[in-house]
Amino acid sequence: MSNCVLFTIPGNEVLANSLIKRLHTEPGEAIIRHFPDGETYVKVNSNVFEKEAIIICSLHQPDDKILPLYFLAKTLKEFRASPVTLVSPYLAYMRRDKRFTDGECISSELFARLLSSFVDKLITIAPHLHRRISLDEIYPIHTSVIHVSHLVSKWINEKIQQPVLIGPDSESEQWVSKVATDANAPYIILEKIRKGDRNVKVSVPQVEKYKEYTPVLVDDIISTGLTMIETIGHLRKAGMRPPVCIGIHAVFAARAYDKLIKAGAEKVVTCNTIVHPSNAIFMDELLAQEICKNSFVVD
Ligand code: R5P
Repeated sequence: MSNCVLFTIPGNEVLANSLIKRLHTEPGEAIIRHFPDGETYVKVNSNVFEKEAIIICSLHQPDDKILPLYFLAKTLKEFRASPVTLVSPYLAYMRRDKRFTDGECISSELFARLLSSFVDKLITIAPHLHRRISLDEIYPIHTSVIHVSHLVSKWINEKIQQPVLIGPDSESEQWVSKVATDANAPYIILEKIRKGDRNVKVSVPQVEKYKEYTPVLVDDIISTGLTMIETIGHLRKAGMRPPVCIGIHAVFAARAYDKLIKAGAEKVVTCNTIVHPSNAIFMDELLAQEICKNSFVVD
């Protein structure tokens, strides 16, 4: 891709370098660091005049990243980069999509407005769309969503013999059923009740007829891991084999990965939307294709 410069928010270097190679694009030179008092310093060294600027920034732990991202995007715009495209493999705040109790802020909407005020386009992977059908409901800018179910099915096909897929809640059915169909495997959808950040109850899976199968728990986000840990407990009681846990986004709050292994997961596998040793399903090629397609979109 010519006339395009690709910048990296620290922590995203591996993916960014892979995209630079795939897209044959110019790496952006910028310094992003903190002053001794904790304030953020940004300096753009590349010439971006009338070029597309792409910023790679996965938005887990978003509060630490949003200000460096804002300063970089606004500075690129000041130097007449156009458009400024944010590639955010994991898009934060999507789960806070309603007022769960009186007085709460609906942060997914406010976060969408904030991002849209300083980038022109957004490319992301499997955003958590539950009560919303499309990102367009909250993002006024051009957005592109990459779906990953076929890559998850491919991984299951290649690595697991006789899988039975287990989705944790009704909202997962739309894509767990697709992964299962493509992997030619049966699936079960559970009921989940979340009573608080760290209080999750999941219904007991009816697995009697799947005793000879390998259970594969599939979810979009693994955060505290409690959804999966609770399900693993049910599967163990039912005498099932140790399950394989697949999450798209490896958020892994509060040592969730270690807790999952301790709870009895055979293996925990994630996509590389957030860098983690469990990454085994890689998005680089799909992202490169989407970035290419998007650079022809004129708003
Ligand atoms: C919820 O709506 C999501 O799809 C996941 O099920 C959830 O984020 C998992 O969270 P945790 O790992 O904290 O149970």
